[in-house]
Amino acid sequence: MTRELPAGFRWGAATAAYQIEGAADEDGRGPSIWDTYSHTTGRTRNGDTGDVAADHYHRWAEDLTHLAELGLGAYRFSISWPRVQPGGAGPVNPKGIDFYSRLVDRLLELGIAPVATMYHWDLPQELEDAGGWPARDTALRFQEYAAHIVGALGDRVHTWTTLNEPWCSAYLGYGSGVHAPGRTESAGALAAVHHLNLAHGLAGRMVRELAPAADLSATLNLHVIRPVSESAADADAVRRIDALANRAFLGPMLDAAYPADLLADTAAVTDWSFVRDGDERTVAVPLDVLGVNYYSTTLVRAWDGRSTRSTADGHGRSEHSPWIGADTVEFLPQPGPHTAMGWNIDPSGLTELLLRLHREHPGLPLMITENGAAFPDLVADDGAIHDEARVDYLRRHVAATLDAVAAGADVRGYFVWSLLDNFEWAYGYDRRFGIIHVDYATQARTWKDSAHWYRHLVTKGPSSSLSG
Ligand code: FCB
Repeated sequence: MTRELPAGFRWGAATAAYQIEGAADEDGRGPSIWDTYSHTTGRTRNGDTGDVAADHYHRWAEDLTHLAELGLGAYRFSISWPRVQPGGAGPVNPKGIDFYSRLVDRLLELGIAPVATMYHWDLPQELEDAGGWPARDTALRFQEYAAHIVGALGDRVHTWTTLNEPWCSAYLGYGSGVHAPGRTESAGALAAVHHLNLAHGLAGRMVRELAPAADLSATLNLHVIRPVSESAADADAVRRIDALANRAFLGPMLDAAYPADLLADTAAVTDWSFVRDGDERTVAVPLDVLGVNYYSTTLVRAWDGRSTRSTADGHGRSEHSPWIGADTVEFLPQPGPHTAMGWNIDPSGLTELLLRLHREHPGLPLMITENGAAFPDLVADDGAIHDEARVDYLRRHVAATLDAVAAGADVRGYFVWSLLDNFEWAYGYDRRFGIIHVDYATQARTWKDSAHWYRHLVTKGPSSSLSG
């Protein structure tokens, strides 16, 4: 396989506001659903919250020097809606805008392309109190928020990404409740799917209007779903999960229509009357690039209704399934190796996913907006962090990306998740994804071996870094 990089390919690193910024009460920031959720007893591991996180709000300038030293061409960060528009509606908070404006300017000075996500899960609490994503009004408020931030930052931002993983926002936030706001409402979760899609379309149109030179994208955590056997029943299990996980977003975003089988499979839960005439066209704003987050694969089979049903889908434990209307599907534990998240390591899934998108949506540029792994990193006596397992994970997934490129997929970039150790949602600080270690007691940053490896890859090119 060739290890050539396409012209203009960008290496980057990704973060998200609530996971790194801290400064939860500073400079006029309002509360988000993740503040409320993480401050609720029993919701996060060890009761961890994002109050301080990696203190990036104060250390951002230092953090950007790490990006520059890594030699990266792009940085994917997210803008905190409650920092910019504390109540989720009405006036903007100038100090919030200023923070991101300074960040973007500094990135540009360093020659690093800013890739800004508008929404990485931190919904202003006031909007949740008014109904959250199951309510249509939230999508309209998102359009207004998008107009403010695109108006302020415009095409200084290289790529605007409307949403990060709406799958998680809808199904984990409103279905299984393992993410904020922690609601468990089947019909509400599907309404959230639609209003997130609608929010994407409305905000995307703001980017087109106000920053025509910027690229527009959305980031999806598409699932690579494999059947246990070649039986027709198992194939149907794959189809159902593919509809909920993938086509519920790809359908309206790329083809201006929800898939008929998704509507049929969930008919007992909702009639989808929240989808109004013209909505699907609005959602299908043309994209310049689709962001793909990839970590592992999913293994399913048709459930026989008799044996105890396994629910090992890798998305946390709850009595409520995020897989609305898929009670006949069983999620099976996967063979190892696994990361500290319990996710199986299978780089071939990434190649498969990129080639599927290339086949089904020819001409659509792709970008890996997240890929990485949590491992129990140990700080050695000399202060170094020898995270060979992460280096191995990254090496194999970069190779898998380049395999897809060699087979024709138009992949424009790769962002490692994450630049820094951070608040891993319900897992708190217990799971470390950074290529840079954060000592939470001192906030000291230390490059792990994976950061040194990544720098070598980025500056010397893939051929020297992918063997071994
Ligand atoms: C993704 C999220 C990101 C991080 C990684 C591990 O689902 O987008 O914030 O939590 O998983």
